[in-house]
Amino acid sequence: MTKPNAVPMNDLKRLYQRYEVKIAREVTSTLQSGWWLNGAAVKRFAANFAKFVGASDCILVANGTDALELALRSVVGLNASHGREVIVAANAGGYASCACWHNDLVPHYVDIEPASQLASIQAVLDAVGTDTAAIVVTHLYGGVVDVPAIRAGLIDAGMSHIPIIEDCAQAHGARIRNETVGSLGDIATFSFYPTKNLGAMGDGGAVLTSNPRLADRVRQLHQYGWSSKYHVGLPGGRNSRMDEVQAAILDILLPDLNSRNARRRAILDRFRSAAGRRLQFVDGGTGAVAHLAVLLCDDRDAFRTFMKDRGIDTDVHYPVLDCDQAGWADLPMKGAQDLAISRASIGRLCSLPCHPDLTSDEIEQVCKALGEWEAM
Ligand SMILES: Cc1ncc(COP(=O)(O)O)c(C=O)c1O
Repeated sequence: MTKPNAVPMNDLKRLYQRYEVKIAREVTSTLQSGWWLNGAAVKRFAANFAKFVGASDCILVANGTDALELALRSVVGLNASHGREVIVAANAGGYASCACWHNDLVPHYVDIEPASQLASIQAVLDAVGTDTAAIVVTHLYGGVVDVPAIRAGLIDAGMSHIPIIEDCAQAHGARIRNETVGSLGDIATFSFYPTKNLGAMGDGGAVLTSNPRLADRVRQLHQYGWSSKYHVGLPGGRNSRMDEVQAAILDILLPDLNSRNARRRAILDRFRSAAGRRLQFVDGGTGAVAHLAVLLCDDRDAFRTFMKDRGIDTDVHYPVLDCDQAGWADLPMKGAQDLAISRASIGRLCSLPCHPDLTSDEIEQVCKALGEWEAM
């Protein structure tokens, strides 16, 4: 048998080549300006991204985990009588859990919906109580959590003061009922890690909100707590900034985000139509943007070997629930015993290559393999 061509999970060289001329021009002029932090490029991209999301403020930070940490600190700090628990799903890669512990808060894990793998609205509302400091919803795999439904449930329960933080690291441009993720909760966070739907050529992140008090707090916290240069207005600050070069690159990529999301969605739809009964693709809703093509499969490890033999890389997002991570075993947490669906899913998850620079031949190679697996 001739060895099939390799289909990698991602190939960022293709992204670079597509934008090479514009990037070379912008990066050179940014470097030539001699102004590499807190300058014009950061200002411009922050304004453009805020407009894209539909929020009034955007603070650019060093990465998506810092964004979560600072967003949580800003909401909790505004409410003196808050509890110490943060409601989160346990299947989202650990970033929100990290942010909780860095703020001395306790993650309260809730279960997910089997078809979407997103936090169950009912489980979130059932977990809410007087100890709740905040809710972090993760728009996982490009799918969209119905934040307005959570908000309505909080209002019905007399708990409308509880802030909702959207983690949009995997869902740039996703929508629900014509609203863009990042504009649905009280405050939102993004990662621009290179493989994200909008990715930098290094690390980057953002916090967005339309609440001026929260924006002001995050703006201070991301630079040492400064209210003005060398004057500290808030405790708990640190240094977390995006540099000018990354902002300039992201501003080049932003105008194509919607069309590249459409391409991701088309690839996922093609995979879905090639699969059958043995492979259940995760469904993030009509406004989802297909950050990853994730499926559930009973013989997951055999399936991965089968795909590897046909030259197709796969991955698992994520192999361990946050509450089961060995390194976090001694940290405070709640809810780990009530995660039946999360636990039933973890050994069945598999991600296929799904990025907008996949070639038609590669897409067909994946579809052919999916069909062969179904026929076995
Ligand atoms: C859902 C989610 N939240 C947060 C992050 C953290 O982002 P970063 O890697 O930029 O710190 C990531 C990704 O890496 C993510 O996928």
